[in-house]
Amino acid sequence: MNYDFSNAPIPSTTFETGMKRLRLLMKMAAEPTYEDNLASLALLKDYDLINRAGALANHFKDADMLIVIGIGGSNLGTMAVAEACLGKHYQLRNTPQVLFADTVDPNYSQEIVSLLQHAIDAKKHIVINAVSKSGTTTETVVLLTLLIEAIKQVPDYRDHVVITTDKGSKLWHTAKQEGFHILEIPAKVGGRYSVFSPVGLFPLALLGIDIQEMIKGAVYAMSYCMQDNKKNPAALGAIALWHYNKKGINIHDTFVFSQQLECVGKWYRQLLAESCGKENTLKGKKVNAGITPTVSVGSVDLHSMGQLYIDGPSDKITTFINVEKQTDLFIPNNKNLALLVDNIQGRQMKEVMDAILGGTLKAYEQQKIPHMQITLPTIDEKTIGELLQMKMLETIYLGALLEINPFDQPAVEKYKVETRKLLAGK
Ligand code: PA5
Repeated sequence: MNYDFSNAPIPSTTFETGMKRLRLLMKMAAEPTYEDNLASLALLKDYDLINRAGALANHFKDADMLIVIGIGGSNLGTMAVAEACLGKHYQLRNTPQVLFADTVDPNYSQEIVSLLQHAIDAKKHIVINAVSKSGTTTETVVLLTLLIEAIKQVPDYRDHVVITTDKGSKLWHTAKQEGFHILEIPAKVGGRYSVFSPVGLFPLALLGIDIQEMIKGAVYAMSYCMQDNKKNPAALGAIALWHYNKKGINIHDTFVFSQQLECVGKWYRQLLAESCGKENTLKGKKVNAGITPTVSVGSVDLHSMGQLYIDGPSDKITTFINVEKQTDLFIPNNKNLALLVDNIQGRQMKEVMDAILGGTLKAYEQQKIPHMQITLPTIDEKTIGELLQMKMLETIYLGALLEINPFDQPAVEKYKVETRKLLAGK
């Protein structure tokens, strides 16, 4: 993975101050345990947990359809890795077919029920995986109730349901009573940091993702994201975001130059938004901290957002993410079409994409828009695992620099509580 921070310069004093603040945290991150907030980092060494998720996925190796029920941190990581590693349209090709049931939009939910019914009628092998750390998220429980009702027609339907939740949650107890399969989320691992727990590992393994390679990539990121120097991209990225945020730049655009990475961008959007959007500092000072994450996809969004990004207000910092090695695909020679755009005939598609990225980077440089660049050598399980782990560490470091708690989400809880009250007629 190549990281380039040269276009988001930070004064050396800011770098030193930032590193000083991160030193203790980096030390703790190097020896993570399940006992504290850095629990997600301990997942990478929990071979039992990894193997259990893999073994259960193997139990369902003949599955034709997987329905993942869950929302936010409970499905975004799975979506991100699946789309990155299997391709943008994998749902059309891949077996098992996968459906994500995340919201209670009635039309959308009805579509899922119909597809499930169709699969049941066709005697397909179906797996329903409901993921909820708390076990009480309204959307997830509603969808689980709906889909269980449908799958009850299948003999031994209990063997087709996997519940991923915290040990001891209400959902855990229900799953035990019902005799569903259960996978445990370690207590201190929060939703948006849970992609390397059974939350992501089970459905991803079922979809044919090599979860061991993904973990290897994450472990590799850990090896260089704790260094006390400028070679630590997680620390450098966090310090850059912190520095520009102090200067009033509070939008962070993740501009992926690969269709397959759009969901990775959305996964990161949640990670940054929920982790750093906080009312108070750890000491209780009201700050209303936060950097608004946006996701753009190159080159498509150049034709919708490019004008604003390049000529609009100087309120953004951008991270470009591109991929070095992609499929060889030649643009055929065509005499008539050759007249329309010069210098494209017989070229590799990748050359054109690189030229568009290069042109965009030049425009950003000319306008002095601060930007960073991450180049993946290729897209596979290992590089995606590495990227996600680096981003999680960067966000944890940013939380420390902003002096807020990057692991809770009190405002999300507020809406959940209010929803329950409304449903109770209060
Ligand atoms: O990252 C988070 O903590 C949240 O986005 C949760 O994942 C989301 O609210 C779903 O919660 P739960 O997994 O408890 O159903």
